[in-house]
Amino acid sequence: MPSPLDVFRSDALAGHVALITGGGTGICRGIAHAFAKLGADVAIVSRKAEVIAKTAEELSHETGRSVLGLVGDVRDAEAMARVTAEVIAKFGKLDTLVNGAAGNFLAPAAALSPNGFKTVIEIDLIGTFNSSRAVFEALRTSGNGLVLNISATLHYHGTPLQIHASAAKAGVDAITRNLAVEWGQFGIRSCGIAPGPIGDTEGMKRLAPGDAAERAKKGIPAGRFGTIEEIAAAAVFLRSPAAMYITGHVLVVDGGHCIALPSIL
Ligand code: COA
Repeated sequence: MPSPLDVFRSDALAGHVALITGGGTGICRGIAHAFAKLGADVAIVSRKAEVIAKTAEELSHETGRSVLGLVGDVRDAEAMARVTAEVIAKFGKLDTLVNGAAGNFLAPAAALSPNGFKTVIEIDLIGTFNSSRAVFEALRTSGNGLVLNISATLHYHGTPLQIHASAAKAGVDAITRNLAVEWGQFGIRSCGIAPGPIGDTEGMKRLAPGDAAERAKKGIPAGRFGTIEEIAAAAVFLRSPAAMYITGHVLVVDGGHCIALPSIL
């Protein structure tokens, strides 16, 4: 089975340095893998030391490049400043920030505690702001900076049991547009990817367990879940010279899921 990444030259990202929050697992681990495989120097950050160390070691082994694993919580602005300094100390510069750290669970709005709502807003939305702000000077110095925010399609409609994540991801998309407008003058682009249902992720296992997964596929025009590699390929494209005039845009990668209404026929 060919990989969607096969279309890129094996050195497509040589000379680039990327910092990927949430890179320890799931979609952002896949983005880290793709970036390193295509020649970038990559740092991944997560608040869980044991997860990040294990993933960094695995990615180094899989890609043949030394991937840097850093511990930090995106909710902590000082921690993200420290993480940024560690990336610069190791690789000498930073070109790309991927904001992927996120938390989610299913909860009815009436039963969700205020702290539960706030926690997801803090990780997804405030974490995206904290990390972006922390890397601003580094991306400006790069002259070819990119903030790439991983959001979702939840907030395009009213998605049941997802009031916290929907509100957070709507805010993340707002950050994507805002930074494009404010930071374009500094040679920094800001883009987003809104993944639809992606198989083989912890999120999908928890959000659509068992039979729900098979039922969910019926609502996707492509007839299947997406793959982590398909999201990684979109990230590589948005990072590549092919996308240099794209900024402020959120690329939906969902097999048509978010535009499909249930059939009444
Ligand atoms: N349903 C309802 N509320 C929940 C919940 C759930 N499944 N999980 C957490 N919360 C609430 C907690 O009850 C708490 O609120 P409270 O103080 O009023 O009780 C609040 O959220 C904070 O939870 P806590 O676990 O202490 O926060 P945390 O910072 O350690 O972790 C998450 C927050 C979202 C990361 C955590 O719930 C989690 O591990 N989720 C699964 C992993 C995940 O989200 N991975 C990313 C996939 S997209």
